[in-house]
Amino acid sequence: MRSALFVPGDDEKKLAKALGAGADALIVDLEDSVAIEAKPRARRIAAAFLGAAPRGGDSPRLIVRVNPLAGGLTDLDLDAVMPAKPDCVMLPKSLGGASVQQLSVKIAVREAQNGLPDGSTRIIALATESAGAMFGLQTYRRCSARLEGLTWGGEDLSADLGAEANRLADGTWAGPYALARNLTLFAAAAADVAAIDTVFVNFRDLDGLRAEARTARRDGFVAKMAIHPAQAPIINEVFTPTAEDVAKAEAIVAAFAARPGVGVVAIDGEMVDRPHLKRAERLLARAKS
Ligand code: COA
Ligand code: MG
Repeated sequence: MRSALFVPGDDEKKLAKALGAGADALIVDLEDSVAIEAKPRARRIAAAFLGAAPRGGDSPRLIVRVNPLAGGLTDLDLDAVMPAKPDCVMLPKSLGGASVQQLSVKIAVREAQNGLPDGSTRIIALATESAGAMFGLQTYRRCSARLEGLTWGGEDLSADLGAEANRLADGTWAGPYALARNLTLFAAAAADVAAIDTVFVNFRDLDGLRAEARTARRDGFVAKMAIHPAQAPIINEVFTPTAEDVAKAEAIVAAFAARPGVGVVAIDGEMVDRPHLKRAERLLARAKS
């Protein structure tokens, strides 16, 4: 998964449009983009959409963002959508591995009730949405086999901090959000799950989006969330390894395969050792998927 496009769960028109946006996944949102009065309607619309949407092949994976555990709405959300078999549930305002476990138990009950295979529904956690959440980032490792990715957010975090802005004048993240971003990257690698970069809200600025996505890829993120259909193709392009990347990685793997027992080789005048091999193998795995 390279791109995941947010769609407000109460908006039938956008849901229909999102299917053709080219995103690898859709995040059907029941949380922040849906007004409190519209939640019951959004649950019904989201469930109907999941039930009717094409699955498999080139169709996007279907993720549902439920409401946070603390608000008392998560059970109602899961009751509505689990019969329609989402591929994955996104947990906002996660505080750490314990939050994922709590959600996992709720999902397990609904999988059993709906005759779905145990563990078939995955989880992505939004891991930096409050100051407290920052201190739970080290607790995701081995918290649940359902956990497939960690992502982060700068909007709710800035609200929690009482900040005036979260980006600098040049568009880059201010210090506290850069820290949240970077720690998410470390937390995801430590937990052996995908690191997914946050949204770029200025959806008319596609050059800005491309630059931010490239920086994310450079640093080790494997995907980025989107809020507008126009963002999906750009994110996909940035996170697709180029033919040149693949050829380089194949050369590294081949060089080590040709010399078993050797720890370091030279390729085109550059030293290549174990970490390079590991990186090359990861890139090839991503290119294949
Ligand atoms: N998914 C599917 N379709 C979308 C979309 C989305 N996320 N965002 C916009 N569209 C559609 C619009 O409905 C419009 O369709 P139309 O041409 O058939 O009328 C078309 O794409 C162009 O949209 P545009 O006019 O450029 O934007 P907008 O002003 O309609 O919408 C937002 C702007 C921000 C309200 C909208 O992009 C949005 O709802 N994004 C998702 C918000 C969200 O889920 N946030 C939660 C996570 S941060
Ligand atoms: Mg939010």
